[in-house]
Amino acid sequence: MLQDVPMTGTAPRDVMSQSEPGEPLPTTMIVNGTARSVRSVTLLSALRDELCLTGTKPGCGEGVCGSCTVLVDGEPVRACQQPVATLAGRNVTTIEGLATGGQLHPVQQAFIDVGAAQCGYCTPGMVLAVAALLARDPDPNDRAVNEALSTNVCRCGAYPRIRRAVERATEITASAVIATDSWGPPETSSLGSRPARPWNMTDPEKRDWFERLGDGIVAVLLPSEPAAETWSTAGGGAWLHVSDAGMVTAFTARWM
Ligand code: FES
Ligand code: FES
Repeated sequence: MLQDVPMTGTAPRDVMSQSEPGEPLPTTMIVNGTARSVRSVTLLSALRDELCLTGTKPGCGEGVCGSCTVLVDGEPVRACQQPVATLAGRNVTTIEGLATGGQLHPVQQAFIDVGAAQCGYCTPGMVLAVAALLARDPDPNDRAVNEALSTNVCRCGAYPRIRRAVERATEITASAVIATDSWGPPETSSLGSRPARPWNMTDPEKRDWFERLGDGIVAVLLPSEPAAETWSTAGGGAWLHVSDAGMVTAFTARWM
């Protein structure tokens, strides 16, 4: 008899022996390498509500935004639309199960390297969609990338960085570098471009913003009097920088 393994401090739930009259029969699938029995109707509900795997994000609930993307037998599926009843014995991979042996998947590392997440809500689905793409095509052309990500929506519009993350993932995969310290961010990564100190905690004249951000276009909303020169949110100062590589950085007295 299969038992669920509790993720947090909840008691084990043996769904096979707790059937109530009228309850749906449990379905046992392999989630991130472990057999799990669930009763939910959709895969999204099973993952989030029964198994506490909240890395899979609910979005539209209609199969069109891709935020709930997971892999079933290595192929991306919309968890919100996938009936659990179709998954008996099949392998489900969520974002929590993508890293192996304590090492991030190349796509996860690539997203970190180029700072491809803005709010991060779409990121699990994007990462899994890209992982599936690279598993079948390690060096996809633009058209293949477009097709693979065409139905994954990023509400923050971080598409340029996501595209660069795909390129970075192909580089990592191609180099077949497996040493953890060799998977660090490249010299030109956005992480390497972070300010020495948070700008909202640094005197305006000491802020290293454009040295860090490099070439690009800047639109500035000057601080209003009497808060001129303070660049605080209260003073109204703000600016937007679009780098020549497409990265967008906004400053409103807080590092965004
Ligand atoms: S929540 Fe599943 S596709 Fe949008
Ligand atoms: S990073 Fe916010 S939705 Fe994509």
